[in-house]
Amino acid sequence: MKGRLFCANWKMHHGPRAARRFLELFLRSYNGAGDRRVWFFPPAVSLTAVLEMIQGRAGLGAGAQNVHWEAKGAFTGEISVPMLVEAGAVGAIVGHSERRHIFGEKDEEAGKKARALLEAGLTPVFCVGEKLEEREAGRTWEVVERQLQVLGDLPPSLLERVVVAYEPVWAIGTGRNATPGDAAEVHRAIRSWFAGRGVAVDATVVLYGGSVNPSNAKELLAEPEIDGVLVGGASLDPESWLSIVQT
Ligand code: PGA
Repeated sequence: MKGRLFCANWKMHHGPRAARRFLELFLRSYNGAGDRRVWFFPPAVSLTAVLEMIQGRAGLGAGAQNVHWEAKGAFTGEISVPMLVEAGAVGAIVGHSERRHIFGEKDEEAGKKARALLEAGLTPVFCVGEKLEEREAGRTWEVVERQLQVLGDLPPSLLERVVVAYEPVWAIGTGRNATPGDAAEVHRAIRSWFAGRGVAVDATVVLYGGSVNPSNAKELLAEPEIDGVLVGGASLDPESWLSIVQT
């Protein structure tokens, strides 16, 4: 059983002090059920604070929001996979729509980041998703498939460790989530893409993200195709995040 995976993407919120305070409140009430994992993705400057706070707590992990594919070098502003390994991180978010659309990150870059993480034994939470005009033009799968294509030459032994987060761009931070049925259709297609490359159908973990909150989490997670969620806004407050992860 792979169990449910809940990922908190804090984006550019919570410095080290706020991160510690969050975890203090969260850990007071979190009754870590064995059937779920909860991963935090704080800003890089807060990552070690989070890792210290959750140390020794089963099912809890933390990672970075972005990573570079080179191990070291003159890359001002970047952090590397070996640094994440040293810190004890679970992995990193890769290809988030804000990286793609605000910072101009290319498909190929997301592919190199995912490969570097996998080769080091870490997990990429690999984000895919279409914009509103692409959905309306019936091009959702075409876009998602293009985004996945950069993983296409990885062997099944690495591919099976990719966590995919389907996050329709029009649902992120808008208060407008995809219906469980709409998400399920894309999740099924993602799973069969991986199956076509040698990964067992039920091995691929596919998360849904985009305006998940305490009121819609239950309905989304009741959909068997949805293995977990990637949450931005509603993960910033310990109460709201607790109610989602204890769904
Ligand atoms: P949101 O963000 O939950 O605030 O919509 C999700 C994400 O960007 O990962």
